Parts: sequence; structure tokens; C-alpha cells
Amino acid sequence: MTNPDPSALDAAISARRSIRGLEGPPLPPEQVEALVALALTAPAPHHTEPWRFVEVSPARRATLADAMGAARAADLEHDGLPEARRAWALARSRRRIVDAPTLLLGCLVADGLNEYADDRRARAEWGLAQHSFGAALQNLLLGASARGLGAYWISAPLYAPDEVRAALDLDATWHPQAFVCLGHPNAEYVPFDRPDRDVARFFVRR
Ligand SMILES: Cc1cc2nc3c(=O)[nH]c(=O)nc-3n(C[C@H](O)[C@H](O)[C@H](O)COP(=O)(O)O)c2cc1C
Repeated sequence: MTNPDPSALDAAISARRSIRGLEGPPLPPEQVEALVALALTAPAPHHTEPWRFVEVSPARRATLADAMGAARAADLEHDGLPEARRAWALARSRRRIVDAPTLLLGCLVADGLNEYADDRRARAEWGLAQHSFGAALQNLLLGASARGLGAYWISAPLYAPDEVRAALDLDATWHPQAFVCLGHPNAEYVPFDRPDRDVARFFVRR
């Protein structure tokens, strides 16, 4: 099967940016579902379907942000970050969670993954699922970008999975990985120039 216009896909991939200045109403439910459907076409190990998504309603956000903020505050204090920087970082994270027009949480489940007694292979197996999650999120981000939406990835749930699960009443088998914030780019948004990367620096032949 040949793609009649690979340049259109190349352009869509190149045009995607993480856009953090979001505004506007929540995405319509059909649009959220269309983006999640794109995520669900990602490659996955052993024909598994390890991805799960949660659309987090505004009503749940404060509790969620509080729980995650408490966990992060303890981490930052442990790191010895000065009080003012801690407060700034915590307030910014909270704003991003609470103010996102649409907030999606992506999770992984282990269904269908091989089980190994040894740590090396068990970790590698979970790594396979995480690779698939990255592919799923990229699909979603590209779909958002192609629709003129703004979107970006927040990795904080990976650092506070128990708090996220508890705040959203999720099953213990759902492993929180990341948020995707979605909305419309605000009026100040200007796409940054991605540096021209010299392929030779990232690529070898053997
Ligand atoms: C695994 C992963 C975690 C990320 N976590 C965050 C995050 O917590 N907060 C954030 O603002 N951006 C996050 N990003 C987005 C990156 O900062 C962004 O992709 C990078 O700066 C390159 O910009 P671009 O996406 O516009 O090309 C994350 C991206 C990935 C792949």
C-alpha cells in the first residue's frame, strides 16, 4: 500500500508543537473520542491493548491537584529546593491541571504482557508497554495538531500514581502515565522554531 502523499504526513509531524497556552471551552465529546481513537491505533507488544484514557472533569480537578501537589511538595522538600521555588513550581502545576480546557489522563494496564520472575525481563516487558504508550500519545498529539488544537504532555502522574488513582477512583490495574492538556492555542501563541537537527549527530550505520 503506497501513501499517495507522504509529504502531507511529514508536514503534519513537523508542524506539531507542545502548546501550553490554552484557552477556550472544553473539546466536544466527539472530538475527544476521535483523538482517543487515534491513540488506540498505536503499535503495541504481543497484540496487547495496554492503553486506557480518562477525561478528567473540572469537578475532580481540585482534589486531584491537591493530592498530586502534596506528593510533589514532599519530593521537592526532600530535594532541598528553596521554599519560593517550591511554591512557584507547585502553583504552576496546579494551574495547568485545573485550568486545562480538556484534561486527559493516559494509563497503562499490564493485560497480555508476559510475566517474568526475573526483574530484568519484567522491567523490559513493562518498557514495551511504555513504548506503546508513547506512540499512542504521539498519535493523539498529532491528531490534535492537525485539528488546529493546542496540546501538551504532562508527566507528573507518573511520579504520583497512587494519588492520581485514588483521586479519580481508578482500578488498581490502571497505571497512570501522563496527562494531555488540550484546548485552543491562546492569542499570544507563536510556534517556536524547532532547531534544524543534523541527522548525522543522531544516527549511525554499522
Ligand atoms: C515523556 C515526556 C514527558 C513530558 N513531560 C512534560 C511535562 O511534564 N510538562 C511539559 O510542559 N511538557 C512535557 N513534555 C513536552 C516536552 O517538553 C516537549 O515535547 C519538548 O519540549 C519539545 O517540544 P515540542 O513537543 O513542541 O517539539 C513531555 C514530553 C515527553 C515526551
